[in-house]
This record gives sequence, C-alpha cells and structure tokens, in this order.
Amino acid sequence: MLESYKIKAVEHIELVPLKERVRALKEAFYNPYLLSANKVYIDLLSDSGTPALSNRQQASLLEPDESFSFQNSYYEFVKAVESIFGFSYVYPIHQGRMGEHILFKIKVKKGDYIPSNTHYATTKANIEHWGAKAVDFVIEEAYHPEVFHPFKGNIDIDRVSSFVREREKIPLAFLTITNNTCGDQPVSLENIRQYKQTLSKRNIPLYYDACRFAENAYFIKQREKKYSEYSIEQIVKKMFSCADGCILSAKKDGLSHIGGFFATRSAKLANEFENLILLMEGYHTHGGLTGRDLKIITIGLSETLSEKYLEFRTGQIQYLWKKLNDAGIPLYSPAGGNAVFVDVSKFLPHLRGEEYPTVALADELYRKGGVRAGGFQSEALQLLRLSIPRRVYTNSHIDYVAEVLKEVYEHRENITGLEIVYRPPYLEHYTARFKKR
Ligand SMILES: Cc1ncc(COP(=O)(O)O)c(C=O)c1O
Repeated sequence: MLESYKIKAVEHIELVPLKERVRALKEAFYNPYLLSANKVYIDLLSDSGTPALSNRQQASLLEPDESFSFQNSYYEFVKAVESIFGFSYVYPIHQGRMGEHILFKIKVKKGDYIPSNTHYATTKANIEHWGAKAVDFVIEEAYHPEVFHPFKGNIDIDRVSSFVREREKIPLAFLTITNNTCGDQPVSLENIRQYKQTLSKRNIPLYYDACRFAENAYFIKQREKKYSEYSIEQIVKKMFSCADGCILSAKKDGLSHIGGFFATRSAKLANEFENLILLMEGYHTHGGLTGRDLKIITIGLSETLSEKYLEFRTGQIQYLWKKLNDAGIPLYSPAGGNAVFVDVSKFLPHLRGEEYPTVALADELYRKGGVRAGGFQSEALQLLRLSIPRRVYTNSHIDYVAEVLKEVYEHRENITGLEIVYRPPYLEHYTARFKKR
C-alpha cells in the first residue's frame, strides 16, 4: 500500500493528558460530537469536510473572481459536473442536506413514500420533515455484520419491486452510494441497472445520494468482474447514466471542506430548484459558496477519480480493518469505503441498546487514547464508525488507533452505559447529552 501523496504543510496535534480528557468528556456530556476538537488527538468522527487539500487546490485559491453572479469558477464547475456525471442542470449548494431539504420540499407531499437502499440520517429526517416516509430496502446481508458480500449496499430488488408495484404516491426513489448507514458498503452496477428498470416501469425518477460515488466506482472495478478493465471515469459514467439526478455533498469524495451540488435532467424540476435556491442559499450560480469553494470542488472531483488515489484511500481503511480483525475485535465485514465499523453489540454484549453502547464505546476510545469516533445506532445495528479523513493521517496514526482500540477491547467488561438527559427533536446523535449510569 503506497501513499499517493507527500506532505507539504503540517498541523500540530497533541494527546492531552488523561485528566484533561476525562474533564473534556464530562464537559461534552459524554457525546463525542460535543468535544472540543483541540482536545482530540486522532479525529475519526467524520470523513465529511475533513480532507487535506492538494497543492493544486491550494494554488488555485486566488484564481476565481468573487463576483455576485456567474463567476468564472461557476462555469468551470458546471462543465466539470456535466462531463463527469452527464447531467444538464447543475446547481451548487452549500452542503448535501440543503439539496435534500429543497428537493423534498418540491417533490414530496404528506403520505408519500421514498424508497432507497438505506436513507442517510439527514435524508430520512428531511423526507419526514415534509410528512413523507423514508423506506429502506437494503439486502438482508447488510444487517449481518459478520456476513461477507461484495456489494452489501445493494437494494433488495424483489422487495422494492413489489413495493413500487403495490403503492401509489412514490414521487421519486433514492439510492445511497456508498451506503454509509449500513457499514458504508458499495452498490453494484448490476443492482443499479435492475433498480432503474423496476422504477422505469412506474415512471418513478431515480436520484442518487452520491457523496461517495468515486469510492463506490472503485469497488465496482475491484469486485464486479465485468468492469475490471474499465477506468474509474467510465464506471462513473455508467453508474450515473441510470440516474435522473443526484445530490452530491462534495465534503466527501469532492475533496472539499464545504459544498456540493444538485443535478437533474428535468428542466421543470431545475427551474423549481433554482427559485428555491435563491430563497434559501443565495444566487443560484454559487448556492452559498465562494468562487474559491467552487474551484476547490472542481479540482477535487478530478483528483478523486485517480485510481492510484482510490487504491491508497480504500487500502488505508482495509489496513485498519485487518489489524483490528487479526486482534479478534468484532467488526462489520467487509471494510467500508470511508470507515471501519466496530460491531458494538458483540464488543459490549453486557450493555442494552437503551444504555447507548456505541456512545459508551466512543467515550472509552477517547478516554484511553484521545481518538474520537462516532456511534451509528439503529434498531438493526449498533456500530462504532472509525471514519478516516481523506489524505490526512499516516499509517502510523492508523497503527496507533488500532493499538488503542485493542487496549479498550481487553478491558471491555469495565465499560458502563449511559443515560440520555437531553434528546433533541432531530438527528439525535449530533447534539444529545448523556450522563453516566
Ligand atoms: C450518505 C450521506 N448522505 C448525505 C449526507 C449529508 O451531507 P452534508 O453533510 O453535506 O449535509 C451525508 C453526510 O455525512 C452522508 O454521509
């Protein structure tokens, strides 16, 4: 596994003393999201908005004009999106969830249903905000962490077909690539095609939640024999030829700290989206972003398609997965595109779901070694996500994370549960507060 970059700028990080970590956890109400980042040594909370910029991206910062509308970097951005993904209408947005909010405001009504493999938390929350229901049809294997399947993000074609046959009120369908909520697993091209065919019979448009499209394409090249000789660009084209549009948070595979876009083939929807963007984000040629941001995303999208980059990116995650697996730590199998997921129900079998075992384990990982990670807890799965920022950490940082987690595993019986003391109305995991039981 060879790094596809060398380091040009460094940022100081430091492991604060144990006493300080214990105090920081208490002050953060035992929710890792509420910890001060400067008290964190290795931050695996999210791969979103956390990449290191390349020298090309940084050198381009002075190029764009920062005009109010129709800036030069807007034209380049639209051209890049059109050529990579093939969509005719493209709107920058400040991040993915604003795209979700606006799209569902336009398209969904109370009582509607939106199928997907698994809706990401913000997608589900935005659909339900407008009174519709987000329904998940990921294949059964996805709910079994120990089962290996090359495309565990696939949608169950039989189940979703009978759902769309039997129901009215499905204004559009979704597909999350890769499927972050269930182990960040890829979707195969064959599955995408079958899903599209199913939806076409009922004229239901298909939209992707496409933030990790390049990692998904790399897995297709590796695991779907038919495409092993295709370039990443060719696979991406094939993937998106089945979509009627997408929302892409560029904070992930866009290698940017902020931004994203909504794209569609529908002129009518584009016009409605454009009007709401003006109301909610800013002028429709910037969507709340600076000219610089658009430039960074344009370059990021080209860099993310590099096979060498993707080989190291997914390889670094696989490297951590293997170290932990060799140590006997229960994991979600196989490794995901952005993260290794620990199977918390097996790691902490003595804790019940209502004791928030994923948060309790994240707390202990931080207490022990200053490593921050986030819990993913649903009815079906209890996972701790060790999400690796792009181009940020070296392999010795990864070795350190594995050592800390191994130590935590050796003393796992001592980990106690939590009690929730503040439950926010939406997206609980980000801002909930806990106390120790
Ligand atoms: C699969 C998926 N969809 C949508 C989003 C929302 O994107 P954003 O954070 O840019 O609002 C995220 C963010 O983590 C995600 O992982």
